[in-house]
Amino acid sequence: MSNHSSKRSLAIRSAFLDFVEDPFYIPEAECVRYWSDGLLILEDGKVKELGAYEQLCDRYSGIEIVSYDDRLIVPGFVDTHLHFPQTEMIAAYGEQLLGWLNQYTFPVEGKFNNKAYAQKVAGFFLDELLKNGTTTALVFAAVFPESVDAFFEEASRRNLRMIAGKVMMDRNAPDYLCDTAETSYQESKHLIEKWHKNGRLLYAVTPRFAITSTDEQLRLAGKLLEEFPDVYLHTHLSENVDEVAWVKELFLDSTGYLDVYDRAGLVGDRSVFAHGVQLTDQEFQRLSEARAAIAFCPTSNLFLGSGLFRIEQAKSMEHPVKLGLGTDVGGGTSFSMLQTANEAYKIAQLRQQNLSPFKALFLATLGGARALSLDDKIGSFEVGKEADFVVLDVRSTPLMAFRNPIATATSLNELADKVFSLVMMGDDRAICATYVAGELAYQL
Ligand code: GUN
Ligand code: ZN
Repeated sequence: MSNHSSKRSLAIRSAFLDFVEDPFYIPEAECVRYWSDGLLILEDGKVKELGAYEQLCDRYSGIEIVSYDDRLIVPGFVDTHLHFPQTEMIAAYGEQLLGWLNQYTFPVEGKFNNKAYAQKVAGFFLDELLKNGTTTALVFAAVFPESVDAFFEEASRRNLRMIAGKVMMDRNAPDYLCDTAETSYQESKHLIEKWHKNGRLLYAVTPRFAITSTDEQLRLAGKLLEEFPDVYLHTHLSENVDEVAWVKELFLDSTGYLDVYDRAGLVGDRSVFAHGVQLTDQEFQRLSEARAAIAFCPTSNLFLGSGLFRIEQAKSMEHPVKLGLGTDVGGGTSFSMLQTANEAYKIAQLRQQNLSPFKALFLATLGGARALSLDDKIGSFEVGKEADFVVLDVRSTPLMAFRNPIATATSLNELADKVFSLVMMGDDRAICATYVAGELAYQL
């Protein structure tokens, strides 16, 4: 595994691309930074400097340089929603959300009371993320505290910046998966004390969704957020039509799905809600006002037949909502953020909307970091940020090589075209290497 406390300096020479602003709101040319021949200087796992090779090479002539010719380096991908215990049940046939949970998901999650098993799956899961260029993720564990320990231990061994939490659910699930309002509170509290801000790790209070929590459990989740103001809130929201109808039946006093969470004090600037496919305009407005975030999970929304997310509503000028992309494995069908962005583009197309290549890449990097309130630490090559990044190959298959005879773009238009081909055609084969805190963590 990697050496966590490296003091050495290292320089990487390649083409580099990142974002300094949000291309949904600012002209793209002002948001994108690009060096066709750049030099990235790393020190103590952080970005020391990035600029044109020609301008920096003299000043850093003493440092070891690793060159990636014909490659494109971007910040590590940020996956804003997925489930590590669902890794083994990815691509389960035939159901929509509620049937899928009962038939496939709950039985598999029942296995995660076994720490050794959870550790094995967590290790595989994290290696799969690295193989796909994902360096930060917001992750559901299972209801068992052991599953959270297993996940954080494996993430810590890889020095990854990860956010996770114990699932809270005290009704409408099999007995073997249910906690109680009180035990969920106590166990979550203990896990927060153990793991939140332990190295690069952060904790998310994680009620599964309104259907599997009583009012009392949601209230205690809110109490945890009051007691630990910088932990996250991570849950599902308004994914599927039958789900939304059931929430209305269960919470007769609430005006809608989001209001159930709002009444419990769960809607704030560190709250991340997965899906939001069925949200009303008022609910989008409320999320904007609260500075809460949505994780758009296109492969999952298509696979489970949940619906077409209204990206233009989330990214509206009037009521902007923080937005990231989530793979939602195992409801989602790929660990690849490139493939996730591909499906996001197609969902936009089906709604007569656009998702430009730079907007898609922004969502997978700095946009995701902003959705997770981590943009002071990751998401771009800004000086001082943690050096998590991905080395991409736009010619990673024979067809992609035919499509991109010349690897390196020399203009912004060319770059947009190459990024688009990566998003449409790229997958784990396009990930040549993944660096975590300045250290090589994966190589194809
Ligand atoms: N809603 C509640 N639980 C889940 C889950 O595990 N996956 C998805 N996609 N939606 C959910
Ligand atoms: Zn999910």
